[in-house]
Amino acid sequence: MEKHRKYIIAGNWKLNKTAGESVELSESVVKEVGDQSNVEVVLCPPFTSLDAVSTALEDSPVKLGAQNMHPSASGAYTGEISAEMLRYFYATYVILGHSERRKQFQESDAFINEKVLAAFANNLKPILCVGETLEQREADQTLEVVDTQIRGGLVNLPEKDAETLVIAYEPVWAIGTGKTATPEMAQEVHASIRNILTDLFGDEVAQKVRIQYGGSMNPGNAKELLFQPDIDGGLIGGAALDAKSFAEIVNAARALEEE
Ligand code: 13P
Repeated sequence: MEKHRKYIIAGNWKLNKTAGESVELSESVVKEVGDQSNVEVVLCPPFTSLDAVSTALEDSPVKLGAQNMHPSASGAYTGEISAEMLRYFYATYVILGHSERRKQFQESDAFINEKVLAAFANNLKPILCVGETLEQREADQTLEVVDTQIRGGLVNLPEKDAETLVIAYEPVWAIGTGKTATPEMAQEVHASIRNILTDLFGDEVAQKVRIQYGGSMNPGNAKELLFQPDIDGGLIGGAALDAKSFAEIVNAARALEEE
């Protein structure tokens, strides 16, 4: 199947793995995924593992990402981490606006927008997460919620940066629950995200942006989700903590790429 966007499969390890355990898991992922470049593979361990995982990934095509950052370069922000600190460990990506941070740490679209701009200013590519709660889906507000999150998160983003952005559509009700959006449900939202991007940045840029699906993606459902025309990858939580499961998802993308 010819898709002009390269699949991107990222593991969000969340609050899991010490630095030692992270090295083991990343080494296993490198071994399982192999030396391929058809699919972009990214690991996002906790901050405390970035240094060690960066070293473990050194001679492999697997890239490093972080799970969050603060928009400021430095200052009195106890417990926070800057974009420059992430770049020091050669992080390429940073997950921003994950629903767990929106909900548990009251992150607003405006604050997430500051982070998106700060990430680009420091050569980090954001993986901007958006998605509706079950309540919002049942009230038929999904597209409206996603629209607000995308426009709010991307204020003042230059076109040249926009094309390297990654968006992750993660319906909150599908995260860690074993409930996945059907491929058709996900595709509908992904297509509407691409329409919003077209409206903001024009069609040429919108066609380049990769939109990942996240929420209970696993080796059993990955292929049919990734097969959808506007699903360009996955942001994987639980299944990314097991090297074999994670590699199976990467291989599903690889198989589609080669079809
Ligand atoms: P699960 O794959 O565990 O549902 O988590 C998805 C997620 O939140 C990735 O960011």
